[in-house]
Amino acid sequence: MRIAIETPRLILRDHVPEDAGALHAILSSPAATYYIPSMYHEALDETRRYVEAAIRDIDASPRLRYNLAIVTRENRLIGEVGLHLIDGEPECGHYGLGYYLHPDFWNRGFTTEAAGAALGFIFKNGAFRVSASCLAENLGSRRVLEKSGMVQEALLRAHTRHDGEWKDCAVYRAFAEDRI
Ligand SMILES: CC(C)(COP(=O)(O)OP(=O)(O)OC[C@H]1O[C@@H](n2cnc3c(N)ncnc32)[C@H](O)[C@@H]1OP(=O)(O)O)[C@@H](O)C(=O)NCCC(=O)NCCS
Repeated sequence: MRIAIETPRLILRDHVPEDAGALHAILSSPAATYYIPSMYHEALDETRRYVEAAIRDIDASPRLRYNLAIVTRENRLIGEVGLHLIDGEPECGHYGLGYYLHPDFWNRGFTTEAAGAALGFIFKNGAFRVSASCLAENLGSRRVLEKSGMVQEALLRAHTRHDGEWKDCAVYRAFAEDRI
């Protein structure tokens, strides 16, 4: 079933093949992908394959991943928010959260709005825990997680190799039972 979640300024929806161009404008940007280097796409074909895989996930049963386009009310695709099942079975209910946005739209609260709606969606659909992690130096991302109501539960020292260095990683979580 295709997902479309409305927020005051955004729609979070499943991908369509036509998303590849707008998504590639973000994923080919060194600024947008500095903290998510594995997402950097040199060629448009890489983004096309990524979108095709996300579309295949829509009908998977059970559904393991939700890669949702972040689209403005003016119908501009400006980023993506993702939820994926961690550790196997859907009934375990533990999901990971991730996101990125086109740099032209940073610092306007869009990702916080999208992440909050994605959390609401997945808790409504059976999640008991959501985890997210980012490099400790990625202060914008940490702020998004805090503003979305997630709580830092660990700071992993020299955990992630990034840009030629070992860097600390901050781990955040949210629990369904804490949101009632
Ligand atoms: C991280 C990212 C998703 C944030 O998106 P965004 O839409 O700008 O986020 P929001 O506007 O909802 O919130 C950003 C918050 O971080 C703050 N912030 C941004 N850069 C900051 C910095 N260098 N130092 C301190 N705070 C910072 C903003 O002021 C804002 O907080 P405020 O509302 O209290 O003022 C976006 O910068 C991005 O796509 N970065 C590249 C990809 C990435 O890092 N993804 C996450 C990987 S873990």
